[in-house]
Parts: sequence; C-alpha cells; structure tokens
Amino acid sequence: MKQRRLQNRPTTGLHGTLTVPGDKSISHRGLILGAISTGTTRLTHFLPAADCLSTLNALRALGVPIKRQGTTVTITGRGLTGLRPPHQALDLGNAGTATRLLAGLLAGQPFDTQLVGDGSLSRRPMDRVRTPLATMGATLELTGNHLPLWVRGRRLTGTTVHLKVASAQVKSAVILAALQATGPSTIVEKLPTRDHTERLVNAFGGQVVMALDRRTITVALHPTLRGQNLTIPGDLSSAAFFITAASIVPGSRVTLKNVGLNPTRTGILSVLRRMGGKISVHHHGQVGEPLGDVTVTAAPLRPLTLTANDIPAVIDELPLVALLAATANGISEISGAQELRVKETDRIATIVTELKKLGVAITEKPDGFIIDGRQSWRVRATQLDSHGDHRIGMMLAVAALRLSTPVTLTGADAIGISYPTFFDDLARLVPVKEALYVASVN
Ligand code: S3P
Repeated sequence: MKQRRLQNRPTTGLHGTLTVPGDKSISHRGLILGAISTGTTRLTHFLPAADCLSTLNALRALGVPIKRQGTTVTITGRGLTGLRPPHQALDLGNAGTATRLLAGLLAGQPFDTQLVGDGSLSRRPMDRVRTPLATMGATLELTGNHLPLWVRGRRLTGTTVHLKVASAQVKSAVILAALQATGPSTIVEKLPTRDHTERLVNAFGGQVVMALDRRTITVALHPTLRGQNLTIPGDLSSAAFFITAASIVPGSRVTLKNVGLNPTRTGILSVLRRMGGKISVHHHGQVGEPLGDVTVTAAPLRPLTLTANDIPAVIDELPLVALLAATANGISEISGAQELRVKETDRIATIVTELKKLGVAITEKPDGFIIDGRQSWRVRATQLDSHGDHRIGMMLAVAALRLSTPVTLTGADAIGISYPTFFDDLARLVPVKEALYVASVN
C-alpha cells in the first residue's frame, strides 16, 4: 500500500490554469463504439488510466486491433458482428463501467464470455444489468449478485425496459444490447443520467432518440456504425477536485480548460453556485459534447440540501460536495444518495470515517449525510485512507489543502484508477517554494 504525505495549505492559495485528462466515461465508450464500428476510429485526449485500459485490453482480447500512443488511440473496428470469443476470462480490474457496458454488448454476441474483476469490483452489484437484459432474452449467470459473471451470448429481442436504478452504466448496457436485437427497444429511465452513450452512438451513425420527457429512449436496430475521429473533452469529474480546491482554499483562483460540460454531468457546478461559490463558465463550440473553460475563485460558502432528483448529475462528485459542505457556514443535508453505498467503496461510510478524522461534524444517514460546516476542523488522526477508492483519495488530498497539520494518505495508488497524474497537476497550482515534491502515482 503506497503512503503519501499530502500537500498542506499554500499560504497564497492555488493559482494557475490546467487541462485535465480526458473524460473517463467517454474514453470507455469511445473504445467500445470504435470496436463495433466499421473502419478506423481515432480517439484524441483519451484517458490512459487503469479503468479505461481495462476496457482497451478487454476489447483487444475480443479480437479488436487497438494501438495506443500516449493519449491517442487508433481502433480498427470489427463491426457489430466481428468480435471474436476471448481465450480466457476478461479481467476488468476495478472498472464498473467496463463490466456493465461490456455485459450488455456481449449479451448479444454469438459466444460466451466470462467477466472477472478485483476485490472491490467483485463486491459490486451486477444483478442491476442481469435483470433488464433478461427482459430482452439475455442470459447472464452471476455468482450471487456478483462477479464472476458468465455472459451466455445469444440473439436478443427488442422490448420496453423499465430501469429500476438511475444508472448510466445500466442504461448503456441495455443500449448496446438493443443495437443487436431483433425489433426496436425502448428504455425508460428512473431519472435522467449521463447520456454519453446516446450521443456517441448517434455520432457513429446510429439512432438513439430521447423523448421530450428526458427519460424515454428509443434505440433503432442494426445501425451501420462508422469509425470516427473524436477529441475527448477533459473530465469534469477530475476537474471537480481543483474546482473544489480553488473554492475552499482562501486566496485561490484556478482555470480548468476544455472540460466536458454535458448537462447530465454539471451538477457540481450547480451545487457550487447554489452554495455561493464564485465560478464562471466560458462555453466553446459544441462538437458532440458541450465543452468549455471553468474559472473558480475562493469564496465563503453557504450550506445546501440535495435530494434524490439532484443526485445523478453529481453522483461522482458527492465526496467533494461533502467537503464543500464541511466548509460552509451552516448545516447541509444530502439525501437520496444510497447509490453511493455500491460505488468503488461504500462512499457514505468512507466519506464519514475519513472526514471525522479531520474533525468535521458529519452524521451518517442510510442515504446520505448531514454536515455542520460551522464546527471548525480539528485533526484527530493524521493518517488518512483512500480505502482503495480513487475519488475518496483525491477528495482527501483536497481536504488536506485546508490544513496546516501534516497528514498522510494510505492507498494513494488507487488514484491511478482515474487520474494517474493527479498529484503532478495539483503541484502545478501550488507556489514552487511551498510545493511538497510529489511524483506521479503511475
Ligand atoms: C458512469 C456512470 C455512473 C458513475 C460512474 C461512471 C458511466 O455510475 O458513477 O463513475 O460511465 O456510465 P452508475 O451508472 O452506476 O450511476
């Protein structure tokens, strides 16, 4: 387990401009769509983090030629019917998105595949993809509700699928299955979730149409998907660590360039505005996905309340929302966020455990937490722990920027799951004289 000393509060705050790595969700999907298209797909500003490399390696094992040079990936598409049975189980590491999306894709292929993953992924619920895919005739054999998973590929039938959980991974699994079914499919979401799969299928020449209610999606059959050149926007979920840091470290002003601003993902910006944060957004032109620059200046924050409808657009940023709330001048309450319990860790438990070490007044609820930001922090334990969860690790590194007490982070290597260069990027915003030397956690 790697342990790392964390950067303390820089006296003049954080300053500078950063371009964060490519979007994780879009990197996974770009690989998959490229693989099932005909012709060549070129992804620029791809995220070469462990999670996306799990998808890349799985697709190679399915017979897809893929070349990667840094953040540029070239995929020779095999078309929807050109994947080959892998020689062994596909090991998806820590990647829930890879597992669920590939389960949907492989359910309609004419061969069987076994999917396995690391300890954390093997504890995450998979029945959520098995049940909706079964309504299309798919056969997924789980071990309880978990990996290892056998996908018994077969011909699928289009139908109407009502999703029981608000999950873009589950929706995307059904879309990828529906592309291969006989008869069109309709998917009804519980709440609108990130729509990158829909946008990308359409960009590759397919037809996924969203109804005006923003919850009902129809998927046209057997599209001819053609390879594309895609530039992947910066990941707003990665930018969010610096957006939060700049908001809560006095004296800061930071700009994040070319970040994805898909409205299904921008909950963190709305949260910050509602809390009184100083944030300005400069939208660029839109090429498939909205994109722009975000500038944040430190400001005193107000408390806020979030309920179930607010959650999907901020799901991955809830550890940061907790941190923002821990600096606000009142009591914040987050509810309807029970999905956090089944992320890379039980994030309600890990957020509460770790923030309590910093003396934050936080109370756990079954579906969220209550935080009184008026209580000043008092470090009670100097050894913080990511619990093997990349987003918890980065949130704690941002929290440490409020402290003048040295603290360490156990399990810092987990950060490589989504942001291998996180500490290097953070170091760029800290004045040289005060920067703790931090090498990348590759
Ligand atoms: C993702 C969807 C979300 C998110 C995850 C990435 C995706 O998960 O938390 O980090 O790329 O579709 P759920 O679909 O489980 O909400």
